[in-house]
Amino acid sequence: MATFSEKYGRWALVCGASEGMGAEFGRQLALRGLDVILVARRAEALESVKQRIVAETKRDVRCVTADLSAPEAIDEVVKAVGDLEIGLVVYNAALSPVGPFLQQTVAENLKAIDVNVRGPIAFSHHFGAKMAARGRGALVLLSSLTAFQGSPFVTTYGATKAFNLAFAEGLWFELKSSGVEVLSVCAGATRTPNLLKAAPNGAPGMLEPAQVVTEALDALGGGPTMIPGAFNRVASFFMRKVLTRKATISIMGDQTKKLQNPKALPR
Ligand SMILES: NC(=O)c1ccc[n+]([C@@H]2O[C@H](COP(=O)([O-])OP(=O)(O)OC[C@H]3O[C@@H](n4cnc5c(N)ncnc54)[C@H](OP(=O)(O)O)[C@@H]3O)[C@@H](O)[C@H]2O)c1
Repeated sequence: MATFSEKYGRWALVCGASEGMGAEFGRQLALRGLDVILVARRAEALESVKQRIVAETKRDVRCVTADLSAPEAIDEVVKAVGDLEIGLVVYNAALSPVGPFLQQTVAENLKAIDVNVRGPIAFSHHFGAKMAARGRGALVLLSSLTAFQGSPFVTTYGATKAFNLAFAEGLWFELKSSGVEVLSVCAGATRTPNLLKAAPNGAPGMLEPAQVVTEALDALGGGPTMIPGAFNRVASFFMRKVLTRKATISIMGDQTKKLQNPKALPR
């Protein structure tokens, strides 16, 4: 069986890799034989993820600090990467304004669009074009179970995740004839620092990042969409195929309200 490096190329780029799921993507891609570029805002956090991955895998790991909410982030990352062959891109970073929409600012919602929508478009366009020209590569876009219906109290975030799902599905079809695989990972609750900030007691069926990442990487090539975890797959089946859309939205709203840390609300 072909290795990841034979299938996709030598280097992986992970956007949003300084902790949680992104750091785990970096680790597991290195364990699967790729050299890895880790992108996030916090240089120290990136460096410590890098040290851990290098100690465990002996792969070449590099860090790039960039704020993915900025339109110029793509140019900064492209410059930092130089002529390395990026064979696999994981766009993991996201911003999730939590709480009632009307109590949030327009600015923070638009920033979520920048990180969660503009970013995937810019990175998929640049690196997808290079992959298509080489005839191999993979794009992994993080979506969420919030993508399948309106998700109250993370309303804008959920809508950006719906974008990622639809975007990845369209690209999956467009790029498959050029040898580029596209996968949207519709994760459910996953134990990351971000999730625990918003829901300190966790959530039903919460998975560890390692399981989500293993299932996602195993699903590569099958595309266009996967849901990690049996609990999430069953819950999602019921919510999409059995319940009415109104009922599903209400369950999402009630659950999110219950799980939220009131301190995570903007005011
Ligand atoms: N955790 C869950 O329960 C869950 C559920 C469903 C879907 N997901 C999806 O899975 C992905 C990761 O989830 P997570 O939020 O729990 O995150 P995570 O992977 O644990 O960490 C988020 C990463 O993104 C980086 N990041 C955030 N804003 C950034 C910016 N403006 N510029 C550069 N880097 C940025 C953070 O680093 P810095 O702070 O250092 O920049 C951090 O490394 C997201 O796409 C999310 O939508 C998560």
